[in-house]
Amino acid sequence: MNETSASNFLRENNAKHYWHPMTDPKRSAEDPPLIITKGEGEYIWDIDGNKYLDVTGGLWNVNVGHNRTEVKQAIIDQLDKIAYYNTFISSANPPSIELSAKLIEMLQPEGMTKVMFGSGGSDANETALKLARQYWKVMDHPEKTKFISLKNAYHGMQFGALSASGGILWRRAYEPLMPGFFQVDNPDTYRNPWTSDPSELANICVNILDREIQHQGPGTVAAFIAEPVQGAGGMIIPPDNYWPLLREVCDKHDILLIADEVITGFGRTGSMFGTRAWGVKADIMSFAKGINSGYIPLGATAVNKRVAEAWKRDHPLAPIMHGYTYSGHPLACAAANANLEIVERENLPQNAAKVGGYFLEQLKTLKEKHASIGDVRGKGLMLAIEFVKDRKTKEPFSPTDPYPALIAKHCRDHGVMVRNQAHRIILSPALTFNTSEVDEAISALNVSLQAGS
Ligand SMILES: Cc1ncc(COP(=O)(O)O)c(C=O)c1O
Repeated sequence: MNETSASNFLRENNAKHYWHPMTDPKRSAEDPPLIITKGEGEYIWDIDGNKYLDVTGGLWNVNVGHNRTEVKQAIIDQLDKIAYYNTFISSANPPSIELSAKLIEMLQPEGMTKVMFGSGGSDANETALKLARQYWKVMDHPEKTKFISLKNAYHGMQFGALSASGGILWRRAYEPLMPGFFQVDNPDTYRNPWTSDPSELANICVNILDREIQHQGPGTVAAFIAEPVQGAGGMIIPPDNYWPLLREVCDKHDILLIADEVITGFGRTGSMFGTRAWGVKADIMSFAKGINSGYIPLGATAVNKRVAEAWKRDHPLAPIMHGYTYSGHPLACAAANANLEIVERENLPQNAAKVGGYFLEQLKTLKEKHASIGDVRGKGLMLAIEFVKDRKTKEPFSPTDPYPALIAKHCRDHGVMVRNQAHRIILSPALTFNTSEVDEAISALNVSLQAGS
């Protein structure tokens, strides 16, 4: 098969046989996806040889950049020994043990002491939710089973994680979801009915959570779960006092605090962990994405000493009857060990803070030029542009309005890959990004916004 017929074969079969995540299947035929065949650092290439600056960072996960020699070599070295063996009951493998030690060392400031592995972010949160329920059963409080989370939260798409997720768009087609999950308002500084003062907003939102816990009965609530910065739900960066207040309210009612660090873990927001920026220690933390930059699927859930101690009790429900065939997959863990080495050696959290700060400044300039931009925001290399029909009223584009997708498409036509999501553009490049790459992205956005207006 020559190159043209090979790419035609792929396009046709994609349209014929393939359902893509988060996509209306009809769209695959009408608006076929780019077929990506190659990556190098911060750039990717499609099947026709077109080159793009990857401002999406894979899916906010390729933190060390594409095609890193060290990560590939670690996978190959492990592959030469053994590709897979299970980690259930009576076997283990060196890369996952090494990774557990590395994670616990990195998480010392958070006081984490044990870790379980899975294959991604949904798994990591599923594990967090299940361990939280089991914790209370083993502690002889079997009635503490409910979970509270935030409206617009994104914790994953399996039934448990989806039940904790607060976005109506993700939930509607699959309802009814699991009982015992409740959502409260998120601290959205751009869109909220109460105040423009961030600190006051944090107080209001945590007060709403406090009231919900009291309404449910603190004795029935297992945990509160949230992302340090809400990602897919709109890039909601909480006020600085929000997470410290969350910790206080969880302590007041004796409920566990779960930090979903699937996006924010390992440097994306400019500190090694999202919660660390506010000096907050969660009881359980979930990770995926940046743990090994997506070279092989991996997720992890860490618990602190308080939680881990429960499993020392002699209780009939203490055995952990949870786990996956691919828990602690040797190739994925080998990739993670090499990946974390790079994250630390190259001080990627610091680079994310520096380059992210520059990116945000440039986005603010872009906002001055284009009336369709209602807000720009970001923390580290986790940024968003929010489009509005009217800046004064903040009237959003309807979910079906083609404008944000059009801007993203224009950017692609100018060699820059960005992701549109609802009425926003999400920018989440590799943490190795530099300021001239920011300039390249801004220039494409500027041209696209001019063309789109
Ligand atoms: C904060 C957060 N949690 C969980 C998930 C789910 O991760 P996965 O898609 O790997 O299951 C995501 C995915 O984007 C996420 O952003």
